[in-house]
Amino acid sequence: MATNRTFTMIKPDAVQNGHIGAILAKINEAGFRIVAMRMTRLSKESAGAFYAIHKERPFFGELVEYMTSGPIVAAILEKDNAVEDFRKLIGATDPAKAEEGTIRKIFATSIAANAIHGSDSDENAAIEGNFFFADMDKY
Ligand code: RTP
Ligand code: MG
Repeated sequence: MATNRTFTMIKPDAVQNGHIGAILAKINEAGFRIVAMRMTRLSKESAGAFYAIHKERPFFGELVEYMTSGPIVAAILEKDNAVEDFRKLIGATDPAKAEEGTIRKIFATSIAANAIHGSDSDENAAIEGNFFFADMDKY
């Protein structure tokens, strides 16, 4: 995958609260191009596999429970410096600590239900994109 791509998920709380459109608008306004997008609902098995890196963390059970509580929107995004710029756009994990104007500051409800995911490296962007889109290089 090109390093100008990242992967995102609009999480169940944001979908449930009707924020898909507003979040996609912010993503577009920030200069990201939506390369591929899919709305789906994760099984416990897929959510556990997606967040396998956190499986020893105390919040893992709660994270899987939350990520399977309703549909999500998965997407591949393209922009120069995509991974870093997207992490800036979404803000800190805990919305209480996120900067003004960030997606989590505006739309998240708690540290667990924090509205949106963004890959933290080019390597993880490729792995996570492939998790939802069989061969993301074709998009
Ligand atoms: P993400 O991977 O979803 O973009 O979030 P992140 O990098 O900002 O945070 P990370 O440390 O990777 O944590 C993954 C997700 O786990 C949930 N979490 N809950 N209850 C808690 O203390 C807690 N800490 C993390 C959040 O949904 C977080 O985004
Ligand atoms: Mg993370």
